[in-house]
Amino acid sequence: MNNMISVRDITRVYHTGEIEVHALRGLSFDIERGEFVAIMGPSGSGKSTLMNLIGCLDTPTTGSYTLDGLPVEQLEMSQLSAVRNRKIGFVFQQFHLLARSTALENVALPLAYRGGIPAAERMARAAESLERVGLGDRMDHRPQQLSGGQQQRVAIARALVTQPALLLADEPTGALDTRTSAEVMDLLTDLNRSGMTVVLVTHEPDVAHSARRLLEIRDGKLMRDVPTAEAWTAHDPHTPHLAPTSGNASPVERARRAGRLPVASRWRKSV
Ligand SMILES: Nc1ncnc2c1ncn2[C@@H]1O[C@H](COP(=O)(O)OP(=O)(O)O)[C@@H](O)[C@H]1O
Ligand SMILES: [Mg+2]
Repeated sequence: MNNMISVRDITRVYHTGEIEVHALRGLSFDIERGEFVAIMGPSGSGKSTLMNLIGCLDTPTTGSYTLDGLPVEQLEMSQLSAVRNRKIGFVFQQFHLLARSTALENVALPLAYRGGIPAAERMARAAESLERVGLGDRMDHRPQQLSGGQQQRVAIARALVTQPALLLADEPTGALDTRTSAEVMDLLTDLNRSGMTVVLVTHEPDVAHSARRLLEIRDGKLMRDVPTAEAWTAHDPHTPHLAPTSGNASPVERARRAGRLPVASRWRKSV
């Protein structure tokens, strides 16, 4: 079996006081190893809820979820956190870096959580991860001494340091300008090309276009599951509002055309 992710009829109901919120209403799909998938949908449609389930931060109310062959819905909380640490790297819109720690210390943190890895090895692996995202010369900087794009690259380095099989990114470019978004997407594309499974949530069609497959969610249901190459046709009756702003070009392609990015990525390294 080549599935990294297999969800069947998952629902998630939040209970807040008297009110029940049906955030996910029965979703089923598979994501194979090595895929690059974008999840889109309006605000409140359940994207973050779905990412939290995929990322083992939460469990479904009903339905089943198999991650890399493991039946996640049957695991205890302590087992879930071990699965998270070993298999999954997370990137969020707000970078969630520790303000008082250096880039190197931030990136090394997941290895400390894992336990049993000597400090020297933690630092060496963190340094390697920072080099992979092009920040080998910023290891001793604290977050506020870095630009937004650099902070997000530190967060990506932190996600990579455990060598996860799956990278999950919830609106990774949501707090970045267009040019910096393009750099971050270029990096995620590189990581996917070198074999990592990448699932990202975004509001921006240009960002989604870097992925190869689009899952569109509305009101907690899966509305579309299509290759991104087919997602935005000129006469798409479903989602004209999702059309990318510049033809079929991804932000990376457009930045390159405008001469804003080098053709050869300096981050390209094997994962
Ligand atoms: N922890 C929570 N408790 C109660 N309701 C929640 C919680 N998280 C999300 N929701 C609700 O679930 C629905 C889906 O939210 P979310 O998954 O965050 O959507 P999206 O990421 O697509 O904006 C929304 O109606 C939201 O208000
Ligand atoms: Mg969200």
